[in-house]
Amino acid sequence: MKRVYIETYGCQMNVADSALMSHVLEDAGFRTTEDVQEASLVLLNTCAIRERAEDRVRARIRQLGQLKRIRPDLVLGVTGCMPKHLGKELLDRLPQVDLFLGPDSYRRLPELVEAAAQKPTLDLRLDDEDYSDLDPVSVEGVHAFVPIMRGCDRFCTFCVVPLTRGREKSLPLDDVIRQVESAVAQGARAVTLLGQTVNSWHHGAHRFVHLLDHVSRVPGLLRVRFTSPHPAEFEEEVFALMAERPGLCPQLHLPVQSGSDRMLEAMKRGHDRAQYRSLVDTIRRHLPDAGLSTDIIVAYPGESEEDFAETCSLIEEVRYDSAFLFRYSPRSGTYAHRKLRAEEIADEIAAARLQRVIELQERISHERYTRWVGRAVEVLVEGVSRRDPAHLVGKSADGKTVILPGGPEIGTLVRVEIGQATSHTLLARGVHEDDPVPGDRAVEQLEV
Ligand code: SAH
Ligand code: SF4
Ligand code: F3S
Repeated sequence: MKRVYIETYGCQMNVADSALMSHVLEDAGFRTTEDVQEASLVLLNTCAIRERAEDRVRARIRQLGQLKRIRPDLVLGVTGCMPKHLGKELLDRLPQVDLFLGPDSYRRLPELVEAAAQKPTLDLRLDDEDYSDLDPVSVEGVHAFVPIMRGCDRFCTFCVVPLTRGREKSLPLDDVIRQVESAVAQGARAVTLLGQTVNSWHHGAHRFVHLLDHVSRVPGLLRVRFTSPHPAEFEEEVFALMAERPGLCPQLHLPVQSGSDRMLEAMKRGHDRAQYRSLVDTIRRHLPDAGLSTDIIVAYPGESEEDFAETCSLIEEVRYDSAFLFRYSPRSGTYAHRKLRAEEIADEIAAARLQRVIELQERISHERYTRWVGRAVEVLVEGVSRRDPAHLVGKSADGKTVILPGGPEIGTLVRVEIGQATSHTLLARGVHEDDPVPGDRAVEQLEV
């Protein structure tokens, strides 16, 4: 029996893509293994978003090159965003690799793997592939990732995604619903809908709000989230619907990148600071307890001390529950890399700015988490705690990890009282057994 081992880097879309590749290969007679030693095919599903992501993959390829010396029949493939980003030059630079595939080539994996066993093979075409008929759903315990769109049309100046994944493609509503139903049939109780600008999903007469309406009414599904929305693509109806549907979790990731209007303009983000602040106000008006997170890039070319101070003040004003904080990384092929090399910020300054936002956010996260202490929170029990098997791990509706005492069944909703908080976790002191959360909640359909 042929065995495939897949290692995943990068975002949730890649996690879903790895599951898709696994399905395609299993249909062609492969078995997926967790043990690289017993695999005849090793795939690294890679990310190109920052230089560090690519460095990690290069190091891993060198390691696997050693394995290939002892096992010459092993086929080593590199898939996803990095081969698409670096293109044909990789064939010469990485002679250990037999197969390079971009994100739209996974349907052809079985034949391409066969070709790669004979000679180095590369397939980096981007087309209208959306895999909608292949059910690209990745179920892990009680949670599933469901891609609803692929690609990105926005071309932020720093970002490789439009280059690596091509133009935006939305999956048809019926296919999304079928995939969510199939995830529920496989045990999922919560789904996260995925897309690079997930809220710009549209198909025929349907817009994102309609999709949320349909998905949140799938029987047996307790919770729905989505990521990453783009701040400039929101319609207020989405928050109104989230406020009235218990299954639509009040958790929103709102990547802002910078608090400075000058930087937002330079990055071509499509909104200014005031519009973003007003979006946050609208969200909090509909969903006062929403968990908010963001992505920030510090030291974008030309960022002055004043620009950076604006980012810090925005973080203070919005008070995010958490944030992914990055230092700008130049990516070949992007506008910023082509045109703004001369304005790049010195390493020491960039590192110091990153450290400052990390410390600032850490303090705010701790305050935001601590405000739940003493309150009752609804938790979906997702598994057993890895650190302490007597405890369970779950998620609050606003997206926080909660550790709770053992007892409740995995896949159920329980109400717990929060006893303690760190900047990353809530610790429950008790489960409200006498106050269960109803599993099935009747809701009325939205009119399209
Ligand atoms: N589609 C999502 C984000 C995808 S990439 C969105 O638009 O929100 C995730 C995050 O990586 C981005 O939000 C950005 O903060 C960061 N990122 C992207 N390109 C980067 C670069 N060249 N350097 C540093 N961080 C980057
Ligand atoms: Fe990249 Fe911008 Fe598209 Fe997000 S919206 S994937 S940051 S180009
Ligand atoms: Fe990375 Fe590609 Fe995702 S560049 S972040 S794996 S879309």
